[in-house]
Amino acid sequence: MSDIALAIIGGTGLYKLAALEHVESHQPVTRYGAPSGPVRIGTLAGRRVAFLARHGEGHSVPPHKINYRANLAALKALGAGRVLALNTVGGIGERFGPRVLACPDQVIDYTWGRVSTLCEEQGTDVLHVDFGDPYTPSLRAEILRAAAKANVAVVDGGCYGATQGPRLETKAEIARMRRDGCDLVGMTGMPEAGLARELGLDYACLAIVANWAAGAGPDPDEQITLAEVLANVDAASAGLAPLLDAMLVDATQRG
Ligand code: HPA
Repeated sequence: MSDIALAIIGGTGLYKLAALEHVESHQPVTRYGAPSGPVRIGTLAGRRVAFLARHGEGHSVPPHKINYRANLAALKALGAGRVLALNTVGGIGERFGPRVLACPDQVIDYTWGRVSTLCEEQGTDVLHVDFGDPYTPSLRAEILRAAAKANVAVVDGGCYGATQGPRLETKAEIARMRRDGCDLVGMTGMPEAGLARELGLDYACLAIVANWAAGAGPDPDEQITLAEVLANVDAASAGLAPLLDAMLVDATQRG
């Protein structure tokens, strides 16, 4: 099977890649079990690209029940070495308002009780992977270069705080996360990034800000609704297609 130039994991509101052509579907079962749904492999900007909806194509898998290990292992088994994670998030820092695209460079993990390592089973080698820079710097640089080329605004950097969900956070939790240095809050950034590192995959996050996190916006009493989240993801996604095209064309030119 020929190599996949890029694997994309879509988050809330991003269940397929409309521009993917000549699509084949795969549903590999990995040693960790089945992924959230079919992996769609097709052509985008002349390159082979894989797409997987993290929550399933019908959004049936909540963040704490996602088999992150199976998702990543399935992409790797199909020939992917690089993963672009699209994550729908809430904004905490003032540069991270609704509809902003951001490429964070740090993570704080507040999740609990998730299978967060490949060394879960007895008898597996114990891994202590370096995770100082949780996102692969060269892949982040590629995303940012492609964004500049495509004229798509992407905030460079920021700290992603991964919460357990599926409920949204309290104002006090967000205030604490702000004090901790978080700029973004989402429910799926971990353990995915750590597992990608353990699997030896290049991995970077492109976060799509869907709403102000609880109490973080100009109206601290504003409630977060799913309709708002989906409308903002939809609007912000307009930048994704040109950014991906630029990234893949760039990869073609590098051979
Ligand atoms: N918090 C956590 N996850 C999210 C949010 C949020 O405010 N918005 C979208 N995903």
